[in-house]
Amino acid sequence: LPYLSGLLPPSHEPPKLNPVVEPLSWMLGTWLSDPPGAGTFPTLQPFQYLEEVHISHVGQPMLNFSFNSFHPETHKPMHRECGFIRLKPDTNKVAFVSAQNTGIVEVEEGEVNGQELCVSSHSISRISFAKEPHVEQITRKFRLNSEGKLEQTVSMATTTQPMTQHLHITYKKV
Ligand code: HEM
Repeated sequence: LPYLSGLLPPSHEPPKLNPVVEPLSWMLGTWLSDPPGAGTFPTLQPFQYLEEVHISHVGQPMLNFSFNSFHPETHKPMHRECGFIRLKPDTNKVAFVSAQNTGIVEVEEGEVNGQELCVSSHSISRISFAKEPHVEQITRKFRLNSEGKLEQTVSMATTTQPMTQHLHITYKKV
């Protein structure tokens, strides 16, 4: 069987960015946490984490993403998610579709305005034996800051807590 990537143009000829996703082009690249991310929640001890992010495209009118987090000392893999970011053509309406290793699959929707993307959960599903407490709502904000670093802030509401910040992280492009 040929390598599947052989169906794509050679890697020295990256596909042309689809104009539909041009408003999200500031998210493209490989990003590493710098400094480590900060985890918070009323029920949790504050924690830190490392994260590697890949945001790419293959010329389709959508971006592909993966967020892979690691323990700051042991580098043991922690939370992982991957999916797609779609734009409604000729609008600033964005859909963020993600599958997470915790057994959650979710759709968030929102808007891109300049170099800032805000999305909130539209639907969340989970495996029947997902760990409790369950997440009931998620909001995320991504922005490119004045230093050219990508930032992500995630808040959530669970079955026991109202909407509260869970994650804040800054990434440096590598
Ligand atoms: C705990 C959701 C991303 C690390 C939790 C809890 C929920 C949750 C519902 C349980 C809170 C409680 O016990 O009250 C999510 C969602 C995420 C996300 C929806 C993405 C949208 C991450 C990321 C990390 C992380 C990127 C980075 C390592 C943790 C840790 C705990 C936790 C360490 C506490 C221990 C545990 O329950 O595993 N998260 N999380 N989470 N989360 Fe997240």
